[in-house]
Amino acid sequence: MGFTTKALHSKPIQNDVHGAMRFPIYQSSAFEFEKAEELEAVFKGFKYGHVYTRSSNPTIEALELQIKAMSGAFGVIAMATGMAAISNALFALLKSGDNIITTKYLFGNTLSLFQTLLSDFGVEVRYVDVNDVEAIKANIDAKTRLLFCESISNPQLIVPDFQAIKAVLSEYHVPLIVDTTMTPWNIFDAKKHGVDVEIISATKYLSGGGHVLGGLIVDNGTFEWQNHANLAPYCKKFGSNAFIARLRKETFRNLGATLSPQSAYLLSLGLETLDLRVQRSCQNALSVAQHLQTKSEVLRVDYPLLKESLSYENASKQFSGGGAIVTFSLADKKSAYAFLNKLKLIRRGTNIQDNKSLAIAPFHTIYAEYPEEQRFAYELNEGMIRLSVGIEDVEDLIEDIDQALYVEVQTLQESEPETPYAFDV
Ligand SMILES: Cc1ncc(COP(=O)(O)O)c(C=O)c1O
Repeated sequence: MGFTTKALHSKPIQNDVHGAMRFPIYQSSAFEFEKAEELEAVFKGFKYGHVYTRSSNPTIEALELQIKAMSGAFGVIAMATGMAAISNALFALLKSGDNIITTKYLFGNTLSLFQTLLSDFGVEVRYVDVNDVEAIKANIDAKTRLLFCESISNPQLIVPDFQAIKAVLSEYHVPLIVDTTMTPWNIFDAKKHGVDVEIISATKYLSGGGHVLGGLIVDNGTFEWQNHANLAPYCKKFGSNAFIARLRKETFRNLGATLSPQSAYLLSLGLETLDLRVQRSCQNALSVAQHLQTKSEVLRVDYPLLKESLSYENASKQFSGGGAIVTFSLADKKSAYAFLNKLKLIRRGTNIQDNKSLAIAPFHTIYAEYPEEQRFAYELNEGMIRLSVGIEDVEDLIEDIDQALYVEVQTLQESEPETPYAFDV
């Protein structure tokens, strides 16, 4: 079956008792049983069932099965947010004294998690250029427990060569964990390209409407967990399901970042149209990026599928779409803010992959907590705009961008006259 057919026709473990065609929202914290023995059996995992929504719930499970069908994954756990998915995966795989390899090109809150909480808990974070396999090799030692990167870094748009990374990691039995939020399964077959575990902010493309928060941990079943020092003990009991079992029975259950059944329902609706929306926003994003290249006010445009992009080679060989995000730079903060403030259709906001197009200046917002020199080192600049391209009619987006750029030049001329005003003389 094709991607969208699977999204529409995946089956829950048990059909609804009334035959509802859309799996219902089980908005219940706990579930009751006829017999005490039955409750004990479900608690111990000897019988199928749900006991308490913090650990599992039928509506959330139906979403997890839908995702399993669409992605071809071995195991899926849905949770409250993308950040919850990242932190749960790390807590399940790491112990104090371990180290991880990553890159400095990461979503701002992920970077913040790595720089603060992970170090506080005694995990060393080693930053390398993930496209330099020799640097990766040089940083692996007996305590390296994973490599983490993003499929397209947000917002620098750097694309790693996953098979090259995987080839190195396999030698040392280190799993490749990738935040694939920017590239859903219909444009990137992460499993085929060597990604062992995918972390996804479901808040983004999967929901589409920008109406719900959610996160996913997807185990592609490609890593042999008995080779991972911290999971080997779980393999004795759970075999190849060790990672998901540890999450479900320990990390995720104990940290408590549960997705609400209502949100699971909305995400499930979103999945049905994922392919249509992603194809449209990718086409729009490429057209917008190409249009921006023609504008004299724009100093630099980046989009992974622009031939001029440094990521073009890796993106074009691994992805069938470049994602929703286009970044471009205007002269400085003043020009960037003038542009943002003149937008009439594109919304000023921080989300990405919404059906609606959204724009933000990451240097002054998402990364504002970092010292300036660090922000420059992260390849950000004061005039940078991150544009998340939605599914509007592309002509309307281009018209909005053009009028905002045009007015920006006029505004600058008005506010910076060649001859300074002499009122204060
Ligand atoms: C690439 C990426 N990963 C993770 C996250 C965090 O997701 P959430 O906001 O659902 O916690 C974001 C949020 O913007 C993101 O862009």
